[in-house]
Amino acid sequence: MKPLSPREIVAELDKFIIGQNNAKRAVAIALRNRWRRQQVAEDLRDEIAPKNIIMIGPTGVGKTEIARRLAKLAQSPFLKIEASKFTEVGYVGRDVESMIRDLTELAVNQIKAEEAEKVKAKALEIAEERILDMLIPQTPQRRQPAQKKTADDAEVPEPAQQEPQPSASTREKMRQWLRDGKLDEKEIELETTQQNIPMVEIFSASGIEEMDINIKDMFGNIFPKKTRKRKVKIPEALQIIAREEAQKLIDMDMVTKLAVERVEQSGIIFLDEIDKIASRDQSHGPDVSREGVQRDLLPIVEGSTVTTKYGMVKTDHILFIASGAFYVSKPSDLIPELQGRFPIRVELSSLTKEDFIRILTEPQNALLKQNIALMATEDIKLTFKDDAVEKIAEIATSVNERTENIGARRLHTIMEKLLEDYSFEAPEMKGKKIVIDAQYVAQKMDGLLKDEDLSRYIL
Ligand SMILES: Nc1ncnc2c1ncn2[C@@H]1O[C@H](COP(=O)(O)OP(=O)(O)OP(=O)(O)O)[C@@H](O)[C@H]1O
Ligand SMILES: [Mg+2]
Repeated sequence: MKPLSPREIVAELDKFIIGQNNAKRAVAIALRNRWRRQQVAEDLRDEIAPKNIIMIGPTGVGKTEIARRLAKLAQSPFLKIEASKFTEVGYVGRDVESMIRDLTELAVNQIKAEEAEKVKAKALEIAEERILDMLIPQTPQRRQPAQKKTADDAEVPEPAQQEPQPSASTREKMRQWLRDGKLDEKEIELETTQQNIPMVEIFSASGIEEMDINIKDMFGNIFPKKTRKRKVKIPEALQIIAREEAQKLIDMDMVTKLAVERVEQSGIIFLDEIDKIASRDQSHGPDVSREGVQRDLLPIVEGSTVTTKYGMVKTDHILFIASGAFYVSKPSDLIPELQGRFPIRVELSSLTKEDFIRILTEPQNALLKQNIALMATEDIKLTFKDDAVEKIAEIATSVNERTENIGARRLHTIMEKLLEDYSFEAPEMKGKKIVIDAQYVAQKMDGLLKDEDLSRYIL
């Protein structure tokens, strides 16, 4: 795949997120810069540090959504994690280094999947031969599976034989049947391996995910692999065996090496809720470790080496995008050293009524489209008149103003309330058409809106 230009990245994001152009541009530039850096001569390349970004904006305006969509676009290992999940080193919980381990794990899986895709055809071929072996009873002198003999040299008669030797033509006939799907209903017995490691749950319950991993590694070779016989239909068996064979064809050393390289060169970490670890008065209570977490973050953001089970990973060139609402705290409440490591600040604006109208209708995953699709499964044709959409947007804006501004999430609560009755009765309304107009919206919502307390609770 060709790397996307900033304009193309913004265009992709536009399919899902309305407005917020500054933020889109900033992340698009950052993403493109990763690629540019790859093209620079090696001696200079190491000098080019990524420019980390902080996205600041009220709740529900698209910060996390941008990150989520970016993750799909970025052809690089991308991890999204909440900064509030971390605790200071030495305390029970996740330490910040775990995000590098997670990112590496992710890259390993990504590359493993890519490699599996490459060997897929070969793995399927082997799987087919193995299934044919199982289907055709073998005589003691086992025939080599991949060998295709002509019909007549297989026809060597064997004396005193109970079962006639299966001929190559039988095998080919079977193969044709298999490919044509004529054997799809047939079941065969398959031995699947399954590793049973006792007590892992007890350890992982303590929240130390690292320990969990290490224990699996340690005991992996001590506890025997348990094999279980299972009857499966042939198409499924083909998939299972192909997966097994693919694993054997993949060179894990190469995968690990590539993964570490990819994390170091193009990894992106999205640190959500960074404002939750920002606070100046760290005098008491749960705040104690917040500044500690920030201090732990420093070396990772700046560039250090983290030990993972796939080897050492250098974090110098990993791009960090942080985001937070910064309602209570301000970016200036982060410790100065950390602020300095996020030189680019972008602000997301709060959403207006016009934005809401567009959010309801335009994105590929727009809320109205979702509800229409849901109703279609009940054989109901749901439509929204323009005046209804406008009314919904208006209500969302006004509730946001009067109670709490929760951004686009308000649309979700309103839509739920609005469609409540139809959602319940849908199965009894098969084949009907439902048209939502402004009048229906008013009828459903006005009562709620008048009562301040009610709208606080329900909307
Ligand atoms: N600009 C937008 N365009 C389209 N949808 C949006 C937009 N902003 C928010 N949404 C929708 O609203 C919901 C919440 O958005 P999101 O998770 O991005 O909020 P956030 O900015 O991360 O808020 P918080 O600070 O609370 O984490 C999502 O379902 C998202 O699709
Ligand atoms: Mg968020």
